[in-house]
Amino acid sequence: MLGLAVGSVVLSLLNLQATAFQVPLATPSSENSDYTFKWPIRKVAVIGAGVGGIISYREFLEAGFDVHVFERDTVPGGNWHYTEELPDKAPIPNAQSTVGDYVPSLPPKSANLPYKQVYRCDEFAEVARSHRAPKPLWETMHAGPAPDIQIDRFPWPVGTAWNLSNTQISRYLRAFASLNGANSNDNNPRFSYNTRVELVEKRFDEEGQEVGWTLTLKTVTRAGDDSCKAVWTKQDFDAVVVATGRFNAPNMPNIPGLVEWDKAFPDTIIHSRQYRHSELYTNKTVLVVGASSSGGQISQDLAPNAKKIFTSVRPDSAGGLHGAIRFLLQALPHNIEVVGEIKRFLPPTSSIATTGIELTNGTIFTGVDAVIFSTGFRYSFPFLPQYHNPSVGPKEKGPPNLPQPIVTDGTHLRNLYLDIFYIEEPTLGFVNMNIGMQPFTYAEYTAVALSKVWSDKAKIPSTPDLWRWCEKKREEYGYGKQYQYLGGGGTDKMIRFFMAWLNDAAAKYGGRQVDGQSPEYVPFPLAIFVSSNNAPFLNQP
Ligand SMILES: Cc1cc2nc3c(=O)[nH]c(=O)nc-3n(C[C@H](O)[C@H](O)[C@H](O)COP(=O)(O)OP(=O)(O)OC[C@H]3O[C@@H](n4cnc5c(N)ncnc54)[C@H](O)[C@@H]3O)c2cc1C
Ligand SMILES: NC(=O)c1ccc[n+]([C@@H]2O[C@H](COP(=O)([O-])OP(=O)(O)OC[C@H]3O[C@@H](n4cnc5c(N)ncnc54)[C@H](OP(=O)(O)O)[C@@H]3O)[C@@H](O)[C@H]2O)c1
Repeated sequence: MLGLAVGSVVLSLLNLQATAFQVPLATPSSENSDYTFKWPIRKVAVIGAGVGGIISYREFLEAGFDVHVFERDTVPGGNWHYTEELPDKAPIPNAQSTVGDYVPSLPPKSANLPYKQVYRCDEFAEVARSHRAPKPLWETMHAGPAPDIQIDRFPWPVGTAWNLSNTQISRYLRAFASLNGANSNDNNPRFSYNTRVELVEKRFDEEGQEVGWTLTLKTVTRAGDDSCKAVWTKQDFDAVVVATGRFNAPNMPNIPGLVEWDKAFPDTIIHSRQYRHSELYTNKTVLVVGASSSGGQISQDLAPNAKKIFTSVRPDSAGGLHGAIRFLLQALPHNIEVVGEIKRFLPPTSSIATTGIELTNGTIFTGVDAVIFSTGFRYSFPFLPQYHNPSVGPKEKGPPNLPQPIVTDGTHLRNLYLDIFYIEEPTLGFVNMNIGMQPFTYAEYTAVALSKVWSDKAKIPSTPDLWRWCEKKREEYGYGKQYQYLGGGGTDKMIRFFMAWLNDAAAKYGGRQVDGQSPEYVPFPLAIFVSSNNAPFLNQP
């Protein structure tokens, strides 16, 4: 019996791997010269102190840069900082991609900096909550396997179970930060916690030449009982690393009737980022929309307490079921019913439970007490409004008189070389922006690439070659959710590319080399199975 189950899992894993996208790797062309930076790079800002930001900090410090990290939260750990505090309700319909999860707050144009705003201390808790933006985690959320959620040169203790609670991961990240003197109680002058980056803009010299970047920062602090304040400042940098994560801006699908439902039954509809405890849904019937990792796991989490769960799934682009739902289906609790895609929410009646929901197959059902949209997130960087252009369609380029956009509809990022360097100005770099890779290990390669290229210890191709690379990738994949997807095969290929490129550069120009994945690394599809099933039988020796 166990053999059969394992066999079916392995077959599922193979199917999943077979559908993984491959990334085209145009290596630097020999016909043109390498890219030449417009100004020397010494002072680097890192935005975000999640795993990507702290790894970047370690790399940039070791490479001799003058590096400073800005984090809006109170502690390091990014996405893994679980709190009972909830993020704001997700806008319905979606906010524009420029908004992300906050509207930048800038000082008055005429203000001298630093500019200060004082709050009544009884309103401070709310100001601080919205400033730090609580993360999209629920209390029981586990993740794994540990060998993949592991930073190079900072292993989990031997004997750690593969399946990790979010508290364990949060402590691990704080320990890693402490080891690097980067925790919020280390008072490291290179770190600014409680500090949100509001704007990143180009800086010009007196002749109008671009010479770097200026960041507008807002720090929200409570100093003693009677001082609750926000202070705005500006700081100049030569280069900027965006390590703000991919799961900030919630995605609410544009389903007919949803806006009316939200108006009529506002407290019953949430996005998964606001889900914390299943007890809130005791004896209720819950509709979970989406059955990827969040939807699949929230459905399972609800099952012991809820009366009934409808999990709405739509076919993936290949017409099959999404990977996570395949795993969910293998252990479906009796009170979960998988239903198809929702066509519309019918006009509201006197209560949510008596109002109908119509599926695309024509079925209409009622009796739902609450809806949890587990429909993913959109890319957004509110501090870079000049590189967002929601009006550019999937087959169009940005207007030639404006900077080419990085974000359009939020499903993907464009005009980046290797999904790292912004082609129009490669002193703007991104860490951990791909999907379907392991962020704890992958961040290392992207951070090393940025640090080597910016310190002239590795080269990227000239601008025309960078555009050619980008165009080739667009032709191959098309813009959309799949554009940043790596998967098992894509991740392996990228890591082989990084090793060849960066180690060859190290031989030529000096600096450190990168290793391949650690021998303990669990390949991508098996890793999904472990995290989807809480597989407790898999332990490190
Ligand atoms: C529900 C859920 C489950 C997940 N499960 C797994 C899993 O099992 N395994 C796995 O490997 N990954 C998982 N992930 C992915 C997770 O995001 C990564 O593990 C990891 O947290 C990525 O690290 P990061 O540093 O790139 O981004 P994050 O951890 O998101 O950190 C980004 C940081 O940037 C800060 N920030 C954002 N904007 C600003 C600003 N303007 N100014 C200052 N600071 C800012 C944020 O406060 C945050 O601290 C999961 C994600 C979610 C949402
Ligand atoms: N413990 C864990 O390991 C764990 C738990 C949770 C999340 N995560 C990670 O967190 C990240 C985000 O995961 P996520 O699940 O929140 O987002 P996600 O992976 O983007 O999934 C969102 C899902 O919602 C579906 N969807 C969108 N609109 C829909 C609609 N109208 N009807 C039905 N389905 C709809 C999407 O389908 P389409 O694909 O067709 O658009 C997709 O399957 C991922 O990287 C994931 O691996 C990990």
